[in-house]
Amino acid sequence: MIPPPSKKLTNLPPYLFVRLSALKEKAAASGLKVIDMGMGNPDQPSPTHVVEEAARSVREEPWTHRYPQTKGIPELRSAIADWYRRRFQVSLDPTNEVIPLVGSKEGLAHLMFAYLGPGDVALVPSPCYPVHYNGVLLAGAKVHWLPLKEENRFLPDLKKIPAAVARRAKVLILNYPNNPTGAVLENTELLQEAVRFAKKHRCFVLYDNAYSEISFDGYRAPSFLELPDAKKVGVEFHSFSKTYSMAGWRLAWACGNAEIIGHLAKFKSFLDYGVPGFLQKAAVAALNGPQNYVVQAAQLYRRRRDVLCEALKQIGWSVEKPKASMYVWARLPERFRKTGSLAFCEKLILNTGVVVAPGVGFGPYGEGYVRFALIVGDSEIREAVTQIGNFLNQKASKPSSPSSKLLMSA
Ligand SMILES: Cc1ncc(COP(=O)(O)O)c(C=O)c1O
Repeated sequence: MIPPPSKKLTNLPPYLFVRLSALKEKAAASGLKVIDMGMGNPDQPSPTHVVEEAARSVREEPWTHRYPQTKGIPELRSAIADWYRRRFQVSLDPTNEVIPLVGSKEGLAHLMFAYLGPGDVALVPSPCYPVHYNGVLLAGAKVHWLPLKEENRFLPDLKKIPAAVARRAKVLILNYPNNPTGAVLENTELLQEAVRFAKKHRCFVLYDNAYSEISFDGYRAPSFLELPDAKKVGVEFHSFSKTYSMAGWRLAWACGNAEIIGHLAKFKSFLDYGVPGFLQKAAVAALNGPQNYVVQAAQLYRRRRDVLCEALKQIGWSVEKPKASMYVWARLPERFRKTGSLAFCEKLILNTGVVVAPGVGFGPYGEGYVRFALIVGDSEIREAVTQIGNFLNQKASKPSSPSSKLLMSA
């Protein structure tokens, strides 16, 4: 008999998108056309010059076939520092203030492992990217939720954190442009407050800036590191996944406070060898090469956002247009709020083949919403919304019965 896995693992439900995949397969098996707007998985091919550089490097540079080093090649760390200077006018020491990651999901979770253990507290917004809390729980620490509410423009209220919690907090997590809400920072007030909070309570700020380059209507996202003293109290994460549609390459980086970066590097050195050399060369090409791809990607997401929001409006589901990210965060239609987002998504997938992510998967304050990821073309978006409209009409005529049993066992 195999013994059970650790309590930490057993206590977590299956990862949201693993659960959705099982339902998607069921829908496809029943003959439905699946239109998947669930996961934030970009559908566009990565930039051609980046693909070519990866192929050239793996073919012509046998050193890339050997073990890489956790801290990354100097050329990539310099390219990241140069990009930061150009984009945010922030200066970084490429030697000890930058570390490439095997995707930010890896880096985020490992940073929690490096800093947190039983008895520690992490301040985590909800709704949020699931690793922001699952990483904390897997590290054996406690999550203190910072509710992100629509009436506060999905910004946390740091003043509401009880003093006893603030004393035990080791990390404050922030993420704007925000996944899943699409909320943005209109000014640097929250960032200033975060720097003050971290100094006062001797915790650090983990700022996740994965969507900084996907913004619309003239909005430009800031970096946390632009703030005076930010580097003294925090680090920022960026990813190639969304900016350059390189989600499958597993490439990202963390930068900022040298002490935190050093501890993350030390932790990772026991577990992985960092990013393969030929992927690091491709990452350099992405950062140093032409950036028109990034501009076009943002335009594509903006158009899809408009198509989706207008189509939803036509079926009577009004949602706010986000100024950034690749998501639309939509309040559940009134009559589905009781049964909840999980039951709604389950029924929607099994009845129509349309996949959207249930808000509750993004933490307790995500309940009552669903998230649409803008990862299918205009005509599929329209087709999906027509299906949703039919589904809602049909449900309006038949009272819905909650049936989350199937999802729970999926
Ligand atoms: C806020 C946020 N951070 C990080 C990530 C993960 O990025 P990566 O592909 O680099 O692991 C995501 C992915 O959806 C995200 O939404």
